Amino acid sequence: MTRFPTAHFTKTFRANAAAVLAVLTVACGGSEPGLARGELLFDTCSPCHGDDGAGKEELGAPAIAGGSEWYLTEQLLKFRDGTRGYHHTDTEGLRMRPMSRALVEDKGDIESIVQYVVSLPIPDPPPTAEGGDAEAGEADYLELCVNCHGRDGRGMEIQKAPSLLHLNDWYMASSMRKYRDGVRGAGGDGFGALMRASMTGWTDERIDDVTAYIMTMQRLPRKVAAPPPPPLPPVDVDPAILPEGVTVAMAREGQEIFNGTTGICFTCHVREGVGGPLAPSLADDEWLNIDGEYESIVAIIIKGVEEPVEYPGMMQPRAGMPLSDEQVRAVAAYVFTLSR
Ligand code: HEC
Ligand code: HEC
Ligand code: HEC
Repeated sequence: MTRFPTAHFTKTFRANAAAVLAVLTVACGGSEPGLARGELLFDTCSPCHGDDGAGKEELGAPAIAGGSEWYLTEQLLKFRDGTRGYHHTDTEGLRMRPMSRALVEDKGDIESIVQYVVSLPIPDPPPTAEGGDAEAGEADYLELCVNCHGRDGRGMEIQKAPSLLHLNDWYMASSMRKYRDGVRGAGGDGFGALMRASMTGWTDERIDDVTAYIMTMQRLPRKVAAPPPPPLPPVDVDPAILPEGVTVAMAREGQEIFNGTTGICFTCHVREGVGGPLAPSLADDEWLNIDGEYESIVAIIIKGVEEPVEYPGMMQPRAGMPLSDEQVRAVAAYVFTLSR
């Protein structure tokens, strides 16, 4: 990728950006939130992301048209709050950050701009990278990425994993390297950390391979989200095996948390805890870090596993989710039943 920002460029750019933003504040001062305001605001985005929102490689600015509403909104908030674009070596992230700051939440700016961006046609960028072994990449994708980004690459909202199908190859590869190196995904957000864990130990070559594979995936149509997995029948528990204070109702609530929308345990441990490449089975009676008794399960969910014994990546405290103590005890009840 072209390395762009010379000191001169950066300075001129900052001056221009400030001027544009000043004009914008005046121009958009009175208009209501919505598509029309979004279109006006987009004038500040197009210098970098292009008039069609399809991105500009020379500025490291990716396609944003084709992104889904929830993802675009969250990323703008992350840039604004500094959970993205926080690292001093993140040239592109630092270029984007002030732009997100200029959007005024009270005026519905984020909502308006996102509404406009999702109204744009979905770009279909051609591959630009040379090399990259798509076949090797496919094996990695099917093993490591499908749980979150889906078999079809369209992403899954419950995992906060975006669609990859509109993205430029140079941007995907650069983002994966950033996750690996802690330049993205280590700013304190749980979902970014999950993606980061997936990149642990990856070489640049492996990243190029998986990128090459993603570029071969069916690129259209892309706005429809992948269907959610079918619901599981309520876990069948013999109350006699449960330790004191643990109920069948707790195990059932825990089943929802483990496999469903509240928790994200299954993204690594796979549905029903059978284990996968990122995390061990919780359904056998072999334990790596604990003795498998109920309290030991509660404790490890609260603490996480910073240095796994066998598996790559890590497990964050409470899996990086805002789980209450009751929810932790419920999910632990479910895990307890899996191995028994
Ligand atoms: C000064 C150039 C610049 C301007 C102006 C700009 N951006 Fe960006 N934007 C970037 C760069 C560079 C990145 C890539 C950051 C990275 O690599 O992590 C980015 C990333 C993004 C992302 C994340 C995309 C993804 O797939 O994660 C979104 C969303 C975004 N910009 C929206 C906007 C919107 C909306 C505007 C207008 C309000 C805007 N940007 C204005 C440079 C810019
Ligand atoms: C545990 C779930 C999970 C797994 C597994 C996972 N991802 Fe992600 N991925 C995410 C989430 C969540 C994000 C958005 C994180 C953020 O907000 O920074 C993301 C973001 C990305 C992005 C950046 C998208 C953008 O628009 O900026 C790329 C590229 C990506 N993932 C590729 C992959 C590939 C390739 C794999 C397999 C090797 C993979 N991911 C495995 C959850 C996952
Ligand atoms: C980002 C991936 C990831 C997520 C999400 C995740 N875990 Fe883990 N989990 C791991 C890893 C890695 C280990 C440690 C494996 C090792 O030591 O090699 C682990 C270990 C465990 C253990 C101990 C297993 C043992 O044999 O020592 C339990 C119990 C557990 N996880 C439960 C959960 C629950 C419940 C959730 C959801 C609230 C969850 N995990 C979410 C990756 C994850």
